[in-house]
Amino acid sequence: MTNKPAPTAVAIHELIAGRWSPRAYSSEPVSREHLHQVLEAARWAPSSYNAQPWRFLVFDRSVDEVSFKQAFATLVPFNQGWNAPAPVLIAVTTHTLTNKGEVNRCAPYDAGAAAMALVLQAHALGLAAHQMSGFDPNAFRTAFKLPNDVDVIAIISLGHYGEVDKLDPVLREREKSVRQRLPLAEIAYGGGWKKVF
Ligand SMILES: Cc1cc2nc3c(=O)[nH]c(=O)nc-3n(C[C@H](O)[C@H](O)[C@H](O)COP(=O)(O)O)c2cc1C
Repeated sequence: MTNKPAPTAVAIHELIAGRWSPRAYSSEPVSREHLHQVLEAARWAPSSYNAQPWRFLVFDRSVDEVSFKQAFATLVPFNQGWNAPAPVLIAVTTHTLTNKGEVNRCAPYDAGAAAMALVLQAHALGLAAHQMSGFDPNAFRTAFKLPNDVDVIAIISLGHYGEVDKLDPVLREREKSVRQRLPLAEIAYGGGWKKVF
């Protein structure tokens, strides 16, 4: 299953409507070219003061199985289950301080924008990408010796689409279910808090 377009209220670009978070991976490796392309997309994300606080740690099972396994081990058991065949994990980290040593309150926002660019590019390439907060950030920090002023925000699994029927029954149903969002009226206000748009 490669396609699960959002049932949007009005038409939006296919790239945005078509990106989704699959859980059925095949174990086929991701080519170096595709990895460079998704990282290049992230590189061109906008950021406050063009600070580019994001840093990506790429764990490619076909290149370095030891570090891949270390990163994989930080995922919560639920995420380990469906990611078992995934060939690549990408940790999204960010510098938390500006170059003046002050807290950069836009850093997580900027890193999120870069992550979104990465997963959109993956979708454009026909790859499956799934962002996760379900991992142990402290275990990750220790395993990969992150500097104190760097936070790990998310781990993205990346790979080729696999067979939905190989997922357990609960996840198989979730994979096929209609994607849901809050209605526009609940997320967009016009001219003031809770005012109708
Ligand atoms: C920051 C972030 C963390 C997420 N963490 C997990 C996770 O740990 N495990 C998981 O299965 N899905 C995770 N997801 C996927 C969301 O559940 C998914 O994006 C949401 O249900 C909307 O579905 P869609 O991406 O297919 O539109 C995460 C998504 C984001 C953006």
